[in-house]
Amino acid sequence: MLSPNSSDRTAYYLTLEDQYGAHNYHPIPVVLERGEGVFLYDVNGKRYYDFLSGYSAVNQGHCHPEIINVLVEQAQKLTLTSRAFHNNLLGEYAKFLTSYFGYNKVLPMNTGVEAGETAIKLARRWAYDKKGVEENKAVVLFAEGNFWGRTLAAISSSTDPSSYKGFGPYMPGFDIVPYNDLNALEQAMQDKNVASFMLEPIQGEAGVVIPDDGYLTGVRELCTRYNVLMIADEIQTGLCRTGKLLACDYENVRPDILVLGKALSGGTLPISAVLCDDEIMMNIKPGEHGSTYGGNPLACAVAMKSLQVLKDEGMAENAMNMGILLRSELEKINSPYIKTIRGKGLLNAIVINHSNTEAAWDLCLALKENGLLAKPTHGNKIRFAPPLIINKEQILESVAIIAKSLQSI
Ligand SMILES: Cc1ncc(COP(=O)(O)O)c(C=O)c1O
Repeated sequence: MLSPNSSDRTAYYLTLEDQYGAHNYHPIPVVLERGEGVFLYDVNGKRYYDFLSGYSAVNQGHCHPEIINVLVEQAQKLTLTSRAFHNNLLGEYAKFLTSYFGYNKVLPMNTGVEAGETAIKLARRWAYDKKGVEENKAVVLFAEGNFWGRTLAAISSSTDPSSYKGFGPYMPGFDIVPYNDLNALEQAMQDKNVASFMLEPIQGEAGVVIPDDGYLTGVRELCTRYNVLMIADEIQTGLCRTGKLLACDYENVRPDILVLGKALSGGTLPISAVLCDDEIMMNIKPGEHGSTYGGNPLACAVAMKSLQVLKDEGMAENAMNMGILLRSELEKINSPYIKTIRGKGLLNAIVINHSNTEAAWDLCLALKENGLLAKPTHGNKIRFAPPLIINKEQILESVAIIAKSLQSI
């Protein structure tokens, strides 16, 4: 009989999940019970480099001591009041966050997908109240290949059948334009009802798809020219992941609406935020949007500290430098199975070229055996996105693991 004390603890936990949990994920078969910095440890005590970082939620490293201290201290004082009442941290947090990113206001939410929904609601409302779009006619544009979650609205904008197929009918008023194509975007903007264009500055889930230099600037110019709101979904690319505070900073582009999540809590709680100026934010009135947990004092305290440590520890700069090192070391491996290496900062991917369609999965299994955790996305792409505190020696050791694992596929 399998039990938590049996010799094969991994099998015990895998069986439990399989039997009692929905099968909506296909995880790498490893059972983790501890994390520290760039490392994860499984139930047998084996150590792994974490090259996924909770899909970029753990930029600051696992169980960052300062974040955990604030989390524990605040948890002992006050965790949730709901927005029916005020709490002593929401105002402080709002001031901190808006000055950190340079916007008038913030609307706090929890998960990333809720923040995406919030941004779209703000854009629709702005279109009716300010742009003069006729009620119920607003159009929101999305880029082909986008990913912003799994709600009905998010899958309604998805171009990936595994996201949307079998879950219709879909949200009206959404249109898709090709990514990295300014002509197509301008064409779509001829429609006077377009309220906004929502995009990821680099498409993470799609496999770290980086648009041409100048694309973000071009998007900004078109949005301004056609009076369309630019919504930047920086949930995965933001908070130093790509080597700058925001990926939009590469082109000094300021989106009208900025959407943040994931690393806003250093991987401890679901915390997301939508930032914009009064002209957009103040169209929403009491009762028109919200959530029970959004802006709770525990989240406020944790988010302030999570942002503070990014700056205090120079994580943008480290991500930039370690990203350059990682890609140049990966280039040196010179494996016939690596078709492409791409990335910015520590948001990287390799594209596997192999006759076996399962090769990327097999490589991830080999990486696991050799002490590094990564997961394929869209079949043949593997993201390499370690915590931003990784150092040179650790990058070199990780690349050695990758080189060794490539030999086994
Ligand atoms: C760019 C982007 N937006 C939104 C989301 C959704 O965030 P969450 O899973 O916290 O709802 C994700 C999740 O991977 C993402 O990568």
